Amino acid sequence: MAGDRPLLSGRPSSEHSRDLAEEDALLTGQHTHRDYSGPRTWKFWREVGLFVWALVATILVIILAVVYQSSTASKPTDPSPSGKRNLIFMVSDGMGPTSLSLTRSYMQFKNGAPFSEQLVIDQHMIGQSRTRSASSLITDSAAGATAFSCAQKSYNGAISVTPDHQPCGTVLEAAKKAGYMTGLVVTTRITDATPACFAAHVNMRMEEDRIAEQMVGDYPLGRVVDLMFGGGRCHFLPNSTEDSCRGDSKDIVDLAKKNGFNYISDRKAFDGLKGGSALKFPMLGLFAETDIPYEIDRRNENDIYPSLHEMAEVALKALSEATKDSDKGFFLMIEGSRIDHAGHHNDPAAQVHEVLAYDKAMTSVLSFLEKDSTQGLMVSTSDHETGGLATARQLHATYPEYVWYPGPLANASHSAERLHQEYNKYLLNNPSETDTTSFLESAIEKGLGIHDYKKEDVQALIDSPEIALYTFADLVSRRSQTGWSTHGHSAADVNIYSSDPKQAAPLVGNHENTEVGAFLRDYLEVDVEAVTKELREKGVGLMASGPNGTSMGWMGNVPEDGERLDGQTHIASYGGDNKKRGLVHGRGCACGH
Ligand SMILES: *[C@@H]1O[C@H](CO)[C@@H](O)[C@H](O)[C@H]1NC(C)=O
Ligand SMILES: *[C@@H]1O[C@H](CO)[C@@H](O)[C@H](O)[C@H]1NC(C)=O
Ligand SMILES: *[C@@H]1O[C@H](CO)[C@@H](O)[C@H](O)[C@H]1NC(C)=O
Ligand SMILES: [Zn+2]
Repeated sequence: MAGDRPLLSGRPSSEHSRDLAEEDALLTGQHTHRDYSGPRTWKFWREVGLFVWALVATILVIILAVVYQSSTASKPTDPSPSGKRNLIFMVSDGMGPTSLSLTRSYMQFKNGAPFSEQLVIDQHMIGQSRTRSASSLITDSAAGATAFSCAQKSYNGAISVTPDHQPCGTVLEAAKKAGYMTGLVVTTRITDATPACFAAHVNMRMEEDRIAEQMVGDYPLGRVVDLMFGGGRCHFLPNSTEDSCRGDSKDIVDLAKKNGFNYISDRKAFDGLKGGSALKFPMLGLFAETDIPYEIDRRNENDIYPSLHEMAEVALKALSEATKDSDKGFFLMIEGSRIDHAGHHNDPAAQVHEVLAYDKAMTSVLSFLEKDSTQGLMVSTSDHETGGLATARQLHATYPEYVWYPGPLANASHSAERLHQEYNKYLLNNPSETDTTSFLESAIEKGLGIHDYKKEDVQALIDSPEIALYTFADLVSRRSQTGWSTHGHSAADVNIYSSDPKQAAPLVGNHENTEVGAFLRDYLEVDVEAVTKELREKGVGLMASGPNGTSMGWMGNVPEDGERLDGQTHIASYGGDNKKRGLVHGRGCACGH
């Protein structure tokens, strides 16, 4: 600024003061007083003419703006909708704000796009959500989704139960009771925490067998979900079958069919739904034994697994058709489930493809809302951030350069998870170590597109195959200078997005995650408290059979540690753990928390 001074003061003083006077006039609307006298010239009248024109134009613009505002206010964007409506709630599990920076820069790099190019989701940001649970400042997905489904804080691990182990009614259950149609579309197991929280109640999220039973209607409310698309087939198959991961011999597919479900389990049957027009309700579509593969791997296996946006489009079309003649619309939850897993794995290449897939699904939702004649709203948020992701990484003790490189992410054609799985398979079939080095070199070169790796990198994979997942991912992270502070979750605030900031006005700004849950039920105008009451009354004394023929309450066993109550011990007490340690051998990833 100091350097500007001489320039300014060097200008002829009259000209300088006239500039200031004109600026002043613009601000105050007052005429400037010119100090020249003499006859009023052509120039004078031209200026008067210009001034009048400017004044008229300004007034016109103001009138147009007012007219436009009052005309849009009476359209379906009314903040308090009346009549039939659809609500699409999107959850980007484990996606913090930095996931967007990461993916946006990757997209720009890949497309050769200018820095101004945004993701679709970027253009719909309206606020932020605070994510702590009742038991910790860092939530898990169960407590996170309970905040959405029940609008209540609970302990980490709680699937729509309160800290005193009572079931809390969910927005999906209440929507079903009110006459809406309901759906869940995910890329993880349909029994995983986020989808489970909308249509099941258990004390511990690990009880996925129990969750599967409840989601097809074996619980106090009967069937409440009209459509489910995702993975997790193994929890529905009896332990006598090859693909089962159940602890008992119950056949949940059979139970689902008895409860009316149309069951499909592969790409061919999905395509048979003809974009949704041939879909018969209720619908249970389980397209993978456990999780649907990461998008970075799935895109090469499109003939086996449908993508998130394909599943979303089919669900939207079918739900819209099915509610065509109803006075109630639908509630659909769509989750980009595995953004979280890529965070847990600290795998930035897998993550950008997950976020792009979510962005594509959001595009599908937005274009549906634009075309559909029923008024509707999309609200999107995350349950928490995962990985403590940073688009920065200090590699050396010396002060770092300010750089982050998306290039190494673009070089990778496989997820670290997939390379790990292939490595495991290799070891099972080739117990002798002779060819392991060349196998791993090929995995790094072909799978990750990395050529400047060292002997030590390969040796680390040979020495600790159980954490090969993390080692593969780290090769990409270091080269792109992507930083991670944990393989778990973080307490970062996450973003809230909506198709319409006016209808979603209560979510503009910074909010507790429970306020997102409160908004969902308010938008649909459904009575969740009545559902809570019904669940509690009908659940009294209700038992379920556990593994080995044991018997337990219908919501499964209660967690043993103190995590379930108000959690002050977790929040207030620093236990003295501050050591830096290497990764513990023999401990693989705790995926999907
Ligand atoms: C399957 O589960 C039943 C209990 O429902 C148990 O008795 C049986 O041993 C299990 N079978 C296998 C193969 O694990
Ligand atoms: C990425 O791939 C290109 C082309 O194969 C290669 O030249 C480059 O070295 C790779 N990047 C890394 C970090 O290995
Ligand atoms: C079921 O029984 C088997 C064999 O008796 C035992 O190893 C296992 O721990 C039991 N599982 C549960 C959940 O009790
Ligand atoms: Zn997680």
